[in-house]
Amino acid sequence: MTTTSRRFVIAGNWKMYKTVDEAHDFTRRLYDQMKDDVSSVDVVICPPTLALDRVTHTIEKELGGAPFSTGAQTMESGDEGAFTGETAPPMLTSLGIQFVILGHSERRQYYNETNETVNKKVQAALKHGLTPIICVGETLAQREAGETDTLIQAQVKAAMTQIDAVILPQLIFAYEPVWAIGTGKTCEATEANRVCGLIRTSLSKIGDASKTRILYGGSVKPDNSLELLSTPDIDGALIGGASLDVSSFTQIVYHAAQLSQKVPA
Ligand code: 13P
Repeated sequence: MTTTSRRFVIAGNWKMYKTVDEAHDFTRRLYDQMKDDVSSVDVVICPPTLALDRVTHTIEKELGGAPFSTGAQTMESGDEGAFTGETAPPMLTSLGIQFVILGHSERRQYYNETNETVNKKVQAALKHGLTPIICVGETLAQREAGETDTLIQAQVKAAMTQIDAVILPQLIFAYEPVWAIGTGKTCEATEANRVCGLIRTSLSKIGDASKTRILYGGSVKPDNSLELLSTPDIDGALIGGASLDVSSFTQIVYHAAQLSQKVPA
């Protein structure tokens, strides 16, 4: 972040936490708490699908705008159809949602998402003007077998199938090592930065990836976020557990805002 003008993205992935009322309450409290200037940072909260309508309504209508916006945690690739329980891209855009997390390891692990389905969803997101946050990451077994780099490169390449290189500046990737998610075991900042750099190098084979934002996710907390965000190839954080707490999430956003001020214009 010190050598480019990439804006930090701080995104909270709430996963399957918070009822609609709790999500509403959190949104108002986050608004009240986030008093410092965070305009240099793209702040996104990704509530469960059921709460997206209420949260976007709260931001736009009740609060008259906020220094954060909303994203979805997943979606289907088709515009509509007989897919029980699923959410289509136009349903998200009709609410004014801008971001969608795709290929999260929990989706890959528990809902059979493959590199191919993730790619279809990336294509669908772009078709509908949504910004995908594309997750990649290795399991502990893959890391221990020395497969991390090959796997990450393959996931990135597959996600980018049939994606026009001109779109690269609009894409967001997230490196989320599976072994660091929800475990309290954060990837060392130097290693997280190295893998984020590897993602950028992989993307550079397709086109200019100097503006693509690459986030780190996996046990990001206020006490490690400054170090992670200070590295050159980490352009933000995708946060699970710590995003469920207003003050933890705000502190991480403030760390990004603080570092952004050091970025040359
Ligand atoms: P934790 O921050 O709880 O480790 O979760 C990370 C994650 O999966 C964000 O998408």
